[in-house]
Amino acid sequence: MQPEAPRAAPAAYNPAPDLLKDRVVLVTGAGDGLGRATALACARHGATVVLLGRTVKKLEAVYDLVAAEGLAKPAIYPLNLAGATWNDYAEMAATLERELGRLDGIVHCAAHFTGFMPLADVGAREWVESLQVNVTAAFSLTRLCLPLLLKRDDASIVFASDPSGRRPKPYRGAYGVAKYALEGMVQAWAEELEIHPGLRINTYDPGPMRTRLRVRGYPGEDLQTLPQADTAVPTLLWLLGAESRGVSGQALTRAG
Ligand SMILES: NC(=O)c1ccc[n+]([C@@H]2O[C@H](COP(=O)([O-])OP(=O)(O)OC[C@H]3O[C@@H](n4cnc5c(N)ncnc54)[C@H](OP(=O)(O)O)[C@@H]3O)[C@@H](O)[C@H]2O)c1
Repeated sequence: MQPEAPRAAPAAYNPAPDLLKDRVVLVTGAGDGLGRATALACARHGATVVLLGRTVKKLEAVYDLVAAEGLAKPAIYPLNLAGATWNDYAEMAATLERELGRLDGIVHCAAHFTGFMPLADVGAREWVESLQVNVTAAFSLTRLCLPLLLKRDDASIVFASDPSGRRPKPYRGAYGVAKYALEGMVQAWAEELEIHPGLRINTYDPGPMRTRLRVRGYPGEDLQTLPQADTAVPTLLWLLGAESRGVSGQALTRAG
């Protein structure tokens, strides 16, 4: 089945300061780029944020920023998604339930991307790691957190995606294949979850952003010409908050 044409979230969305009050939101790749910007924004809109990533120093820096602003105390969950197993995700879900008692949202921002390359140049390690981080980890983490999310009457799962997720493009290597698989997974999952109207699942293409991932694809580009990651966050907040109830199975793009 072909995904619908990408939809845009409301332009110039201006979330209420208490949009995510009392909610618990897990953000992967929370130490850098879009994940960092999303984690900070969620905390600033009232959420308790679970900061998941592989570089503890970066996660601690985000934690310190949230703490310095006097916001709800976040949790740090160090995990290298390239090596994490089913048991690791099961343990993580159990820890979240035990320590925080609930989970209202997941934003998958972690991504493995080493640069553009033809598929003929993709080696075994690059293939496995890309599929592992970009698809398998995203699936496994979501799958094992699903029972926790289904206990809420307004929960949201968002996967950061890329144009190659909607239309296969040459030279995107294993990353492009992984994003295409991710979009397919979300389409199928959304239909299966229709019986649970309180849970929505969507993808979001943030567009070009001034991040380390972008540099790996376009090393010669003047990064200053690109928008910062936080400009892509309002749509994610909308997807996490109650105003997007009923929006599921959508491939959204940056607003505006
Ligand atoms: N940047 C763009 O122009 C652009 C355009 C279209 C789509 N996107 C999508 O937007 C999302 C966010 O990208 P970004 O630009 O924010 O990338 P980024 O700045 O490179 O951040 C990616 C994050 O993922 C983490 N990560 C990578 N491998 C991991 C692993 N094995 N285990 C745990 N965490 C891992 C990184 O951790 P470390 O900090 O430890 O490296 C980093 O925090 C991605 O899904 C990407 O495909 C980005």
